[in-house]
Amino acid sequence: MLQDHRSIAPPVLYFGTPVVLIVTRNHDGSANITPMSSAWALGSCVVLGLSSATQGATNLLRNGECTLNFPSACLWANVERIARTTGVNPVPAYKAEMGFVHEADKFALGGFAVQPSELILTPRIAECPLQFETRLLTCHRSAKQQGGAASTHLIMEVDVQRVHAHRSIVVPGTNHIDTAQWNPLFYVFRHYFGDAVDLGKTFRAEY
Ligand SMILES: Cc1cc2nc3c(=O)[nH]c(=O)nc-3n(C[C@H](O)[C@H](O)[C@H](O)COP(=O)(O)O)c2cc1C
Repeated sequence: MLQDHRSIAPPVLYFGTPVVLIVTRNHDGSANITPMSSAWALGSCVVLGLSSATQGATNLLRNGECTLNFPSACLWANVERIARTTGVNPVPAYKAEMGFVHEADKFALGGFAVQPSELILTPRIAECPLQFETRLLTCHRSAKQQGGAASTHLIMEVDVQRVHAHRSIVVPGTNHIDTAQWNPLFYVFRHYFGDAVDLGKTFRAEY
């Protein structure tokens, strides 16, 4: 039973990571939202995996800043409302074939409100209980070309300069996130998941 594994070829390898809504500023100063999930924290930095064909990557490279907004599980339908859209106009042919359409105002489409940032010009998403203001540190191309010549994968490292947490998910009087209250939205093999069960903590947890 323990060794009853199959060799399979899944179409995606999205094993389960939190959903991040990246806000960037377009050329005309308006704000764009890029839903993504290939992200992880490394000390005070976050590493982002983004297709070069996204408006988010183009904006982040041009302006050198973005906000990372972490939706709670209850916002999954809002995220899905903007999932089929891109800020890129015209829509790249390979994405149009998949059913993507251009959307200039993803805040309105997703039912999200703009919240100004404190250190950078790029705004936050008010409905997300956890938000990071960040500046781009470095960007390099994935060594493996994927999906033909239309896009490559960019690996972008951003420096977290300020963290905003809604008071409902902060342990009062501390800098700790209250994990009993924070309910992140996860993306698992193209399904949305939430309501994770607390199984215990590491020896290093302070709260
Ligand atoms: C839940 C979710 C997770 C996604 N994760 C990623 C990701 O990690 N990297 C990426 O490049 N695109 C990801 N996408 C696809 C982008 O959101 C999509 O390409 C979108 O059109 C980009 O928007 P933009 O062109 O306006 O930036 C994800 C989409 C959804 C809905």
